Amino acid sequence: MNRRKFLQVGTSLAIGALARTRLAFGADAEIVLSPGEPGELISPHVYGHFIEHLGGVIYDGVWVGPSSRIPNVGGIRKQFVEDMKRIGAPNLRWPGGCFADGYHWRDGIGKASSRPRTYNFWQRRMPAGKDATETNQFGIHEFIRLCRLMGAEPYVAANVGSGTPSEFHDWVSYCNAPAGTLSLADERAANGDPEPFGIRYWGVGNESWGCGGMMRPEEYAAKYRQFVTQFPSYKEPFLIATGPRGHSADGDMGWTTGFFEGMRGFDPPNGFSIHFYTDLRPTALKAADFSQPEWYEVLLRGVRIDKVIESHWQEMGKFDPKRRTKLVVDEWGVWYKPGEELAPTYILSQPITLRDAVHTGLTFDIFNRHAEKIVMANVAQTVNCIHSLFLAQDAQFVRTPVYHVFEMYRSHMGGRQVPISNPVAELNVPVLAGQARLPGLSASASIRERSLTVTLTNPSTQSPLRTRLRLVGGARTKDARARVIAHEDMRATNTFANPEQVKPVPLAVNVGADALELTLPKQSVALVQCDLS
Ligand code: AHR
Repeated sequence: MNRRKFLQVGTSLAIGALARTRLAFGADAEIVLSPGEPGELISPHVYGHFIEHLGGVIYDGVWVGPSSRIPNVGGIRKQFVEDMKRIGAPNLRWPGGCFADGYHWRDGIGKASSRPRTYNFWQRRMPAGKDATETNQFGIHEFIRLCRLMGAEPYVAANVGSGTPSEFHDWVSYCNAPAGTLSLADERAANGDPEPFGIRYWGVGNESWGCGGMMRPEEYAAKYRQFVTQFPSYKEPFLIATGPRGHSADGDMGWTTGFFEGMRGFDPPNGFSIHFYTDLRPTALKAADFSQPEWYEVLLRGVRIDKVIESHWQEMGKFDPKRRTKLVVDEWGVWYKPGEELAPTYILSQPITLRDAVHTGLTFDIFNRHAEKIVMANVAQTVNCIHSLFLAQDAQFVRTPVYHVFEMYRSHMGGRQVPISNPVAELNVPVLAGQARLPGLSASASIRERSLTVTLTNPSTQSPLRTRLRLVGGARTKDARARVIAHEDMRATNTFANPEQVKPVPLAVNVGADALELTLPKQSVALVQCDLS
């Protein structure tokens, strides 16, 4: 089917724009960019990460132990560090997730061989007869060492569900007080780290409406106030309150309203978390093997995050017109039902295909376009869990297609949004419930100094898209290059045996004085970098 037939034009404006584009340039689409009118800064932290004590995430994915035959830096998997550096990972959230609200930080300090074995929340999800006992070999010192090796900022989620304000405050002091001041700081120094950890990002609980305490929003607001009022101020914190379950059928607006009602008259948090999973667990959809409607179903559910961000932001604005609180999407990703794990005890791990890479491109473009609202986002989770960048098992390690999207989008980090006009008509696509509409082309752009970055995702399984990027406002191109992730097979994936099936390759780009032309393959994510004169 040719794209012209496949596209169902959404508005007459779009018909006009598309037709003009075809006549003038022989391209299917023309995107107009205004690099001379840069907008909001795209926070580098939007490209952030998350690891939890769950299945094979920490133990094996990240921590192999100092005596392992797997190359490691003091017990931390070397390849994990190197690859995270390569994508400029800006932050790392830890220790959970649901694990965080059962975690007591003192269990993870001191001599490794003396640390206690403790209960892990995820025990309940382990296969019968398998054990998830927490060995506490990876604690706050190991976490900070990992962050320092990667050059990432730590983001620590504190225990509100089963902890106390004083346990939280002691942890903050232990981490941030200078040696020679508090006894807690001296204890940290005696445990090998005289330099304070300087942790700025603190999550005050996780999913407090669920595994973090089953609270009502007004109950959580009261807890939040109690937990932050006596916060030890060694470093100006960025405090992140638990926000809604954004992928709920109703978007969970009641949580946002209830929390901010409960905060009336008090200082609002710096950050308000949203969790948004493209949640396929209630369906029969599989991660590795799927049909064309199932491809589109995942993308369709994924782009709903756009409206979820917008609607919670609007609601927050009613209570916080000065916009002191920003959004932190600290868990996002495609989550398939169980059954395709790397190994039975690697719970919540799943194969990652080109479909998930395309979903990532759509998501990042949405985040970039909401730059004024979102200060941070964290993929769930970086290794061996849900929407992973890596799968690791013993000595085997592979970068998934999602990894490569992170690598391509890194040049947006810290850039300024560039206004884009994207008139490409929506696609009318087959999905589980019949037909639905999906953006025909996803795009976002940013500029840093004279370097313009444009990312483009063509979600169509049918048609390539000849695309023209036209620069307005007097911008002139000097040089440009492009790379693309695509594959003939929409189910393409990277495996331990075949690790480079899906990876970026150069894409031809024609450079004119004020325009670039390229053809986006079907089912692809592309990066265009253009030097402006
Ligand atoms: O990422 C897996 C789990 O999903 C996290 O522990 C929890 O916060 C969420 O429900």
